[in-house]
Amino acid sequence: MLVGVVAFGAWYKLFREVPQQFDTPAEDFKYGSIGNETAEGVPFLIWTVLPEMFPEYLPGAGGYQSLGFVQEKGRETPIGFSKKTVGFPRIGFNCAACHSGTFRTEPEPARQTVLTAPSTRADFQRYARFLAAAGADRRFTEDNVLRAIERRVDLSWLDRALYRYIIIPRTRDGLREQQRRLAWMNSRPDWGRGRIDPFNPVKFHQLRLDPAKDRTIGNSDMEPLWQMGKKSGYSLHWDGLNDNLTEVVLTGAIGDGATSLTGEAPSKSLPVDDLKRIEEFIKQARPPEYPFPIDRRLAASGERTFQSRCASCHEFGGKRTGTVIPLEEVGTDRNRLDMWTREAADRYNEYAREYPFNFTRFVKTNGYVSVPLDGVWLRAPYLHNGSVPTLEDLLEPPGDRAKHFYRGYDVYDRKRTGFIHQGAEARRLGFEYDVRVPANGNGGHRYGTDLPAGEKRALIEYLKTR
Ligand code: HEC
Ligand code: HEC
Repeated sequence: MLVGVVAFGAWYKLFREVPQQFDTPAEDFKYGSIGNETAEGVPFLIWTVLPEMFPEYLPGAGGYQSLGFVQEKGRETPIGFSKKTVGFPRIGFNCAACHSGTFRTEPEPARQTVLTAPSTRADFQRYARFLAAAGADRRFTEDNVLRAIERRVDLSWLDRALYRYIIIPRTRDGLREQQRRLAWMNSRPDWGRGRIDPFNPVKFHQLRLDPAKDRTIGNSDMEPLWQMGKKSGYSLHWDGLNDNLTEVVLTGAIGDGATSLTGEAPSKSLPVDDLKRIEEFIKQARPPEYPFPIDRRLAASGERTFQSRCASCHEFGGKRTGTVIPLEEVGTDRNRLDMWTREAADRYNEYAREYPFNFTRFVKTNGYVSVPLDGVWLRAPYLHNGSVPTLEDLLEPPGDRAKHFYRGYDVYDRKRTGFIHQGAEARRLGFEYDVRVPANGNGGHRYGTDLPAGEKRALIEYLKTR
């Protein structure tokens, strides 16, 4: 009997799930769980004290905000982080960590946050490296972590014991394990702000492919998730590796650690209903309007150029919009395409065979998707690897596009249509982008580069209206 009580107590303290409540779908998108706290979540209290214990592993002051995450007033976590109690409060990240962006119209006014916009500032690799460095640091001891926690909150004797004997040591082991699991990153170029390698982690972890036999670099720019309802039937992801939104949403969550299929964690399934709500939210979301005046006459003349030169690939309903354009034709950097292999596609289609959310639509393609250009002003830097900082650059022949710039500063550049990417502030806050680094190539996509300067200006003016 006593054993039963202890066991129940431990279960209650370690695994009892408390459902979250949100007033609006937007709040849910910002702070809701996608189910990764159990398997990959960091205990909330430990997560909170790590930036003050190890500030030297962060890129600047301000804790997690220095990694590009947006903190709203009165919230315990930045946007994109969910606090969920599974026994004890844990932190996981969600879709909004990468799929919500910011911009400022001037350096001074507060930044505006746009849910479903691609993040240009989040540095996930630094986040992972921060946690790993903290976990590996010899100052990460039961005493030190507990002392930092107890400066903030009072723990009961039972909680103190749980933290000391179970939660802190387990977290340290987990962070060290994570560091080993991500070691493959260290032999490849950095992702930088606003980019991740989306599928190599999945290939090497969930799909159990061997990183030692794989030299691919998948570094790619975040994509917007607005108006996903209008993209039904389109190939999704930069290379079009799947054309089914439900599968892409579920595997988005798996890629972020919501997998329990490996049997390591107590819960055995994805939070399919929560993810369905996210799918509905992104189907309806709308891109924001361009925040500065637009010259409507100029835009009208640019629309004619768009119709003749771009619409077949980029207009909703265009003949080739949402389809894969072969690499030989579009000519952009091939690394992201090569990262996704036929073997990976086959394994993902096998992965969840015995589960209610089976996957069948993964494919290997031969190019990149001609994406609809809705909200294009806020999608900078452009192309799948974010190699072209502004629309003005994109309409220049590749040799004349910026070769060296900074990504991750969010003050808008009205002259060139993109974010300010040179100068002291951009350098201070941004990630240094060099197009000569492998997978950073800015070649290809020569469409419109031969237009006279006046027509290019008009075309860009028109693009601001989309
Ligand atoms: C760690 C960052 C990150 C997180 C978290 C994340 N994504 Fe993404 N997402 C990306 C990147 C980067 C791409 C483009 C990847 C590629 O194809 O190279 C992408 C692509 C997509 C696409 C394809 C869009 C299109 O038009 O083709 C969808 C849909 C999507 N994500 C949904 C989600 C959902 C839903 C979640 C939460 C369950 C999520 N993502 C979580 C980074 C992220
Ligand atoms: C034959 C099809 C095709 C035509 C025509 C075409 N594009 Fe593209 N476009 C693509 C493809 C494919 C991509 C994705 C390439 C990549 O990311 O490597 C792309 C990407 C883009 C992007 C980047 C989107 C983002 O979110 O980063 C912009 C902007 C763009 N095109 C503008 C234009 C304009 C303007 C024109 C007309 C002058 C045009 N394109 C003509 C196929 C086309």
